[in-house]
Amino acid sequence: MREGSRTAPNRPVSAICQRTPQAVSAVAAVPGTVVGMTRIDNYSPSGRPVAVSVRGLVKHFGRTRALDGVDLDVHEGTVLGVLGPNGAGKTTLVRCLSTLITPDAGKAVVAGYDVVQQPRQLRRVIGLTGQYASVDEKLSGRENLYLIGRLLDLSGKEARSRADALLERFSLTDAATRPARTYSGGMRRRLDLAASMIGRPHVLYLDEPTTGLDPRTRNEVWAEVKAMVRDGVTVLLTTQYMEEAEQLAGELTVIDRGKVIANGGTDELKAKVGGRTLRIRPADPLELRPLAEALDRLRLAGSATTVDAESGEVLVPIVSDEQLTGVVGAVTARGLTIGSITTELPSLDEVFLSLTGQKTSAPQDLRPELEEVAV
Ligand SMILES: Nc1ncnc2c1ncn2[C@@H]1O[C@H](COP(=O)(O)OP(=O)(O)OP(=O)(O)O)[C@@H](O)[C@H]1O
Ligand SMILES: [Mg+2]
Repeated sequence: MREGSRTAPNRPVSAICQRTPQAVSAVAAVPGTVVGMTRIDNYSPSGRPVAVSVRGLVKHFGRTRALDGVDLDVHEGTVLGVLGPNGAGKTTLVRCLSTLITPDAGKAVVAGYDVVQQPRQLRRVIGLTGQYASVDEKLSGRENLYLIGRLLDLSGKEARSRADALLERFSLTDAATRPARTYSGGMRRRLDLAASMIGRPHVLYLDEPTTGLDPRTRNEVWAEVKAMVRDGVTVLLTTQYMEEAEQLAGELTVIDRGKVIANGGTDELKAKVGGRTLRIRPADPLELRPLAEALDRLRLAGSATTVDAESGEVLVPIVSDEQLTGVVGAVTARGLTIGSITTELPSLDEVFLSLTGQKTSAPQDLRPELEEVAV
């Protein structure tokens, strides 16, 4: 690929996208250029720096209130997982925070820059891997990365070496010269991630980065994201995979119909939902059935007990500590002896279902078509 002319510094994202409508997934940053700008210093109450601060963010599309007053914080060098069912507003949030659309109300400050007041400065410190892979199919992997590097104002030499380093890091060196249209879904996704890293962003948005990938490729992407976080990058990740949230995110925010409906650490969220499960193993394995019958009559959390024949345990849903005492009392009153008893928090999938009333990870073909309206 021939080297193009250098683009003007601070080229707006829209202009980059206009030149290469499919090639740019990165709204990215040129390293070391955060100088001479007015930054809004932003610290959390505990003194930990906040890299992304969102307050009361609202965005309408026609009559749809895609964001309905969203508040969230992402602390520097951490991953915030934004969970939500289809249509919850995740992509709209990411698009607002990457200056691709303008919110109707509220405030968002990223890396010290206001998304509405300081979009040009902001674009220099963020990277974005959008929900749908956006590499240029006709160009090779190396050409895609090189082009983005040049659009981000890197010299030809820098763009080439950055592209090669990222191809290596994302295990794409062997495929570097092949057109991207010959790549598998997982390879395209990795190329997309590499593209968002060209400008060494401080804050990276990943919008459902592993949707549609097989488990092995998903693990590879997770390993890359973890490596980026170790390097100090702050990540806002949207996902519908609970496992992904547990793997990557320290903190979670659950949104539904444009509103935050819960937030906290994974254990905190599990505890918020309230339900726990007691796993009780009788001292004598022959007492498994009588134990199950005795406990089933209690119906402490309103749901039936189940028997896990493999582990030889009875599973009892409870909602409070007092119920644990009740369980022990009921067992001993029947002359049965408990061998072991453990408590289990609900899985994140159960938490998600309980909070949103929807199962996670809906198949791709069930996703609603977006109707584009003027933004
Ligand atoms: N450009 C647009 N024009 C019209 N409506 C839109 C547009 N973008 C989003 N919406 C609507 O806003 C709401 C939020 O959509 P958004 O894409 O942010 O959801 P999401 O959480 O990313 O969903 P998914 O998990 O399916 O990607 C939906 O009702 C969607 O139809
Ligand atoms: Mg989305």
